[in-house]
Amino acid sequence: MTRYARHLQDHTIVNPFPGLPRLEAAIGRRIVSRIGSNESMAISDHPLATQWGEALYELARLYPDPYAGAVRERAAVRNGVAAANVVVDAGADSLIGLFLRARVSPGDVVVCTAGTYPSFRYFAEGVGARVVEVPYLQQDGVLVNDLAALAHVANTQQAALLYLANPDNPTGTHHGHDAIHALREQLHPDTLLLLDEAYIDFCDQAERQGVLPQTVRLRTLSKAHGLAGLRVGYALAPEEWVNKADQIRTQFAVSSVAQAAAVAVLDAPQCAERIIGESSRLREQLATRLREGGVHVLPSHTNFVCICYANADDALRRQKILLQQGIAVHRPPHPAMQHALRITAHPDACQESVLEVLTKG
Ligand SMILES: Cc1ncc(COP(=O)(O)O)c(C=O)c1O
Repeated sequence: MTRYARHLQDHTIVNPFPGLPRLEAAIGRRIVSRIGSNESMAISDHPLATQWGEALYELARLYPDPYAGAVRERAAVRNGVAAANVVVDAGADSLIGLFLRARVSPGDVVVCTAGTYPSFRYFAEGVGARVVEVPYLQQDGVLVNDLAALAHVANTQQAALLYLANPDNPTGTHHGHDAIHALREQLHPDTLLLLDEAYIDFCDQAERQGVLPQTVRLRTLSKAHGLAGLRVGYALAPEEWVNKADQIRTQFAVSSVAQAAAVAVLDAPQCAERIIGESSRLREQLATRLREGGVHVLPSHTNFVCICYANADDALRRQKILLQQGIAVHRPPHPAMQHALRITAHPDACQESVLEVLTKG
């Protein structure tokens, strides 16, 4: 039996506003006059239309499809799964919150790595979870998620959920699909594996496919597809998890504009491939220059590099020098990772003046 949060276990919540696409499917014809949604009528010279065009104004004026059907279908095709295995929400962050709400009751244990993507802990605390952290494993100076230890702690603590960012943020390191399958097999079936794959587009195609039992794989259009400001992500999951998530999701959270943009980028995969190719090239260039400058750069499967300095003070000092020049680099807030700086693979990062601070300081 699939386990959900206690109050959802034997309760099916019905969406009062399933939206016009579902109504059209139910009645077998197009709706030609939408006078049941209390949207505003179109006016001439609306500022959206004059600044950005009539098409944007029309999208903005009307309620979106609550199930983001067009995005679901395209995400399904891209990942070789059925549309019933896809749920769309306002970015991977919203999906983390959504699946925490679907699985975790107040007081339940959730497990993650100490120092990994901090929004997980932020959302977990918001649902009343008890967060248990496992240190990174040091392998030849490289920090990786310790899959064996994560599974052991999740099983001994009877965790409701295990969170794993793969590729990881902030380290950038990655475990291949065999290791992920083995992790799933080690975990108790009641433990939902929440795989945050925000950066998976920067890995080989083979790593991106498929639905695993009791596992939710999160994807975002913020990184390789260039839509961070519009807030679109999706999850690939077994159908029962998609159905439960759909019962508690904010139906209209992904705007019409965001859905239309998502359709546009998913229909133009060559654009994502260009972003992936260019980011990966810059990441390797940046890593090489940094290593030549004598600093310790972790191997990365993302659109950033992670530099580990000798201590937190050293990382903070360099971050402050760059900030004084108006340059923002990220130093993770978790005590386990404050000796690190995370730099996006971007032409600005390869400027001599920036490299100088990051290497010589
Ligand atoms: C690991 C990880 N998950 C999720 C996100 C957030 O993605 P989104 O913009 O889709 O909410 C990020 C963004 O940096 C991330 O690094």
